[in-house]
Amino acid sequence: MKNTSSSYGLLTKIFHWVLFIMLTIAVIAGNVVHSMPKGDEKMEMLGQHKAFGVLILTLVLLRFLWRLINTKPDHIPGVSAAQAFLSDVMHWGLYVLMLAQPLSGLLMSQSAGYPISFFGLGTVPTIIGENEQLADFFHEAHEIIWVLLVVAVVGHIAAALHHHFIIKNDTLKRMTHG
Ligand code: HEM
Ligand code: HEM
Repeated sequence: MKNTSSSYGLLTKIFHWVLFIMLTIAVIAGNVVHSMPKGDEKMEMLGQHKAFGVLILTLVLLRFLWRLINTKPDHIPGVSAAQAFLSDVMHWGLYVLMLAQPLSGLLMSQSAGYPISFFGLGTVPTIIGENEQLADFFHEAHEIIWVLLVVAVVGHIAAALHHHFIIKNDTLKRMTHG
């Protein structure tokens, strides 16, 4: 279940791949909602997008906690100090963006005065009161951060594939079946 000094544990792998799928769905759904004409259908989709985003936020927080209390696998042998540093910076950056995107959505909705229903099961606790200026700020942030996340993920995927197919080391294997 836990990470070891040479590989990622089952829980880290589940968090990694489940969140990859969920974040991909949320980015696509967010853009679909954005392009919909105003109306009931848009409000319905937006409600689903928000609840799904809150679920992502919860999972990212749990994943982050797990990362903090867990062993971090050593860098793959043969990786230079510069590459190791870059990979650490990239992983921290991905965490920041994964947290910032749903958090900006949540803060945008609440500061605009809209309570967030969690799939009709209850209302998400209010952490910020109504404030038009902050709502604009978080709206702007929500439109920018997902683009940064996509760019970072594309770089991250390119690095993983480079390690697997060109350098031919175990980087990808230890996040999958290794
Ligand atoms: C990681 C999770 C999330 C991702 C990847 C995501 C992604 C997106 C994207 C790509 C858009 C379209 C942005 C644009 O206008 O250019 C969007 C819009 C929006 N999102 Fe999210 N979102 C997430 C979580 C949330 C959460 C948690 C909330 C609120 C609780 C939320 C509320 C909204 C709202 C209100 C819009 C505006 C729709 C519009 O422009 O009409 N999102 N989201
Ligand atoms: C939403 C998309 C993704 C995000 C946010 C993401 C994020 C992360 C993070 C934060 C780590 C560090 C380990 C951890 O703390 O969990 C990691 C590791 C890793 N990811 Fe991703 N990842 C994404 C998609 C992918 C995809 C599609 C691939 C494969 C093509 C991939 C391959 C890897 C590999 C191989 C590692 C291990 C790197 C190492 O051992 O140095 N990731 N990922």
